[in-house]
Amino acid sequence: MREGETRVKEQFTVCSADQLREMEPVSIEHRGIPYCLIKTGEDLHAFVAVCSHKDLPMFPPHCRKGRLICPHHKVTFDAQTGAIARTHGKSVPNGLIPVLIEVRDGMVLLEARARHRKMLSRKQRRKVEKRSRKLAKKEENA
Ligand code: FES
Repeated sequence: MREGETRVKEQFTVCSADQLREMEPVSIEHRGIPYCLIKTGEDLHAFVAVCSHKDLPMFPPHCRKGRLICPHHKVTFDAQTGAIARTHGKSVPNGLIPVLIEVRDGMVLLEARARHRKMLSRKQRRKVEKRSRKLAKKEENA
Protein backbone atom coordinates (compact mmCIF):
# COMPACT_ATOMS: atom_id res chain seq x y z
CA MET A 1 0.00 0.00 0.00
CA ARG A 2 1.39 3.39 -0.99
CA GLU A 3 1.52 6.32 1.39
CA GLY A 4 -1.75 8.26 1.45
CA GLU A 5 -3.83 5.33 0.22
CA THR A 6 -6.87 4.29 2.18
CA ARG A 7 -7.68 0.63 2.70
CA VAL A 8 -11.15 -0.47 1.68
CA LYS A 9 -12.29 0.39 5.23
CA GLU A 10 -10.27 2.21 7.82
CA GLN A 11 -11.35 3.52 11.21
CA PHE A 12 -9.81 6.65 12.61
CA THR A 13 -10.26 8.49 15.88
CA VAL A 14 -11.81 11.93 15.79
CA CYS A 15 -12.26 13.20 19.34
CA SER A 16 -13.78 12.45 22.70
CA ALA A 17 -17.59 12.23 22.58
CA ASP A 18 -17.69 14.68 25.53
CA GLN A 19 -16.12 17.41 23.38
CA LEU A 20 -19.02 17.54 20.94
CA ARG A 21 -21.53 20.34 21.26
CA GLU A 22 -25.07 20.27 19.99
CA MET A 23 -25.35 21.46 16.36
CA GLU A 24 -21.71 22.50 16.18
CA PRO A 25 -20.15 20.57 13.29
CA VAL A 26 -16.63 19.27 13.71
CA SER A 27 -14.51 19.25 10.56
CA ILE A 28 -12.04 16.44 10.16
CA GLU A 29 -9.46 15.83 7.48
CA HIS A 30 -8.28 12.27 6.95
CA ARG A 31 -5.86 11.57 4.09
CA GLY A 32 -7.08 14.65 2.25
CA ILE A 33 -10.77 13.80 2.58
CA PRO A 34 -12.97 16.16 4.56
CA TYR A 35 -15.46 14.68 7.00
CA CYS A 36 -18.05 16.37 9.13
CA LEU A 37 -19.31 15.14 12.50
CA ILE A 38 -22.32 16.68 14.17
CA LYS A 39 -24.30 16.02 17.32
CA THR A 40 -28.08 16.46 17.27
CA GLY A 41 -29.71 15.70 20.60
CA GLU A 42 -28.21 12.42 21.78
CA ASP A 43 -27.36 11.28 18.25
CA LEU A 44 -24.16 11.63 16.27
CA HIS A 45 -24.09 11.95 12.49
CA ALA A 46 -21.11 11.97 10.15
CA PHE A 47 -20.77 12.67 6.46
CA VAL A 48 -18.17 12.96 3.78
CA ALA A 49 -18.04 16.76 3.52
CA VAL A 50 -18.08 16.95 -0.28
CA CYS A 51 -20.84 18.93 -1.96
CA SER A 52 -22.14 17.32 -5.14
CA HIS A 53 -23.07 20.67 -6.67
CA LYS A 54 -19.51 21.21 -7.93
CA ASP A 55 -17.75 18.31 -6.16
CA LEU A 56 -16.03 20.71 -3.79
CA PRO A 57 -15.04 20.17 -0.17
CA MET A 58 -17.24 21.71 2.50
CA PHE A 59 -14.34 22.46 4.74
CA PRO A 60 -15.42 23.64 7.14
CA PRO A 61 -19.21 23.52 6.74
CA HIS A 62 -21.40 25.83 8.78
CA CYS A 63 -24.56 24.84 10.59
CA ARG A 64 -27.73 26.84 11.02
CA LYS A 65 -31.21 25.78 12.01
CA GLY A 66 -30.40 22.07 11.73
CA ARG A 67 -28.81 22.39 8.32
CA LEU A 68 -25.24 22.08 7.12
CA ILE A 69 -24.38 24.86 4.72
CA CYS A 70 -21.89 24.48 1.89
CA PRO A 71 -19.50 27.45 2.11
CA HIS A 72 -19.26 27.76 -1.70
CA HIS A 73 -22.79 28.49 -2.97
CA LYS A 74 -24.87 28.02 0.19
CA VAL A 75 -26.72 24.82 -0.72
CA THR A 76 -27.97 23.30 2.54
CA PHE A 77 -28.21 19.72 3.77
CA ASP A 78 -30.16 18.21 6.65
CA ALA A 79 -27.73 17.79 9.56
CA GLN A 80 -29.30 14.48 10.63
CA THR A 81 -29.65 12.72 7.30
CA GLY A 82 -27.40 14.60 4.88
CA ALA A 83 -30.36 14.96 2.50
CA ILE A 84 -30.53 18.06 0.31
CA ALA A 85 -32.56 20.70 2.15
CA ARG A 86 -32.33 23.78 -0.06
CA THR A 87 -30.62 24.17 -3.42
CA HIS A 88 -31.21 27.88 -4.14
CA GLY A 89 -31.85 26.85 -7.75
CA LYS A 90 -28.53 24.99 -8.12
CA SER A 91 -28.27 21.54 -9.63
CA VAL A 92 -27.29 19.26 -6.76
CA PRO A 93 -27.45 15.57 -7.69
CA ASN A 94 -26.93 14.02 -4.23
CA GLY A 95 -27.09 14.66 -0.55
CA LEU A 96 -24.11 14.12 1.72
CA ILE A 97 -22.71 10.59 1.95
CA PRO A 98 -23.15 9.19 5.47
CA VAL A 99 -20.17 7.73 7.32
CA LEU A 100 -20.28 4.96 9.92
CA ILE A 101 -19.59 6.10 13.48
CA GLU A 102 -18.51 4.06 16.45
CA VAL A 103 -18.12 5.33 20.00
CA ARG A 104 -15.56 3.21 21.82
CA ASP A 105 -14.35 3.98 25.33
CA GLY A 106 -15.77 7.49 25.01
CA MET A 107 -13.88 8.20 21.78
CA VAL A 108 -15.60 8.81 18.44
CA LEU A 109 -14.27 6.83 15.50
CA LEU A 110 -15.28 7.25 11.85
CA GLU A 111 -14.96 4.70 9.10
CA ALA A 112 -13.13 5.99 6.02
CA ARG A 113 -13.73 4.08 2.81
CA ALA A 114 -11.50 3.94 -0.23
CA ARG A 115 -14.36 5.23 -2.38
CA HIS A 116 -14.39 8.50 -0.38
CA ARG A 117 -11.04 9.38 -1.97
CA LYS A 118 -12.59 9.18 -5.41
CA MET A 119 -15.01 11.96 -4.55
CA LEU A 120 -12.31 14.65 -4.82
CA SER A 121 -9.52 15.28 -7.25
CA ARG A 122 -5.92 15.03 -6.05
CA LYS A 123 -5.68 18.82 -6.29
CA GLN A 124 -8.74 19.26 -4.09
CA ARG A 125 -7.41 16.72 -1.54
CA ARG A 126 -4.16 18.69 -1.31
CA LYS A 127 -6.12 21.88 -0.75
CA VAL A 128 -8.07 20.19 2.05
CA GLU A 129 -4.82 19.00 3.70
CA LYS A 130 -3.37 22.51 3.45
CA ARG A 131 -6.52 24.09 4.87
CA SER A 132 -6.57 21.53 7.68
CA ARG A 133 -2.97 22.38 8.64
CA LYS A 134 -3.85 26.09 8.63
CA LEU A 135 -6.88 25.53 10.85
CA ALA A 136 -4.83 23.39 13.27
CA LYS A 137 -2.17 26.09 13.50
CA LYS A 138 -4.81 28.73 14.12
CA GLU A 139 -6.29 26.61 16.95
CA GLU A 140 -2.83 26.13 18.49
CA ASN A 141 -2.25 29.87 18.54
CA ALA A 142 -5.71 30.70 19.94
S1 FES B 1 -20.16 23.52 -4.30
FE1 FES B 1 -21.53 23.41 -2.62
S2 FES B 1 -23.10 24.75 -3.14
FE2 FES B 1 -21.77 24.83 -4.85
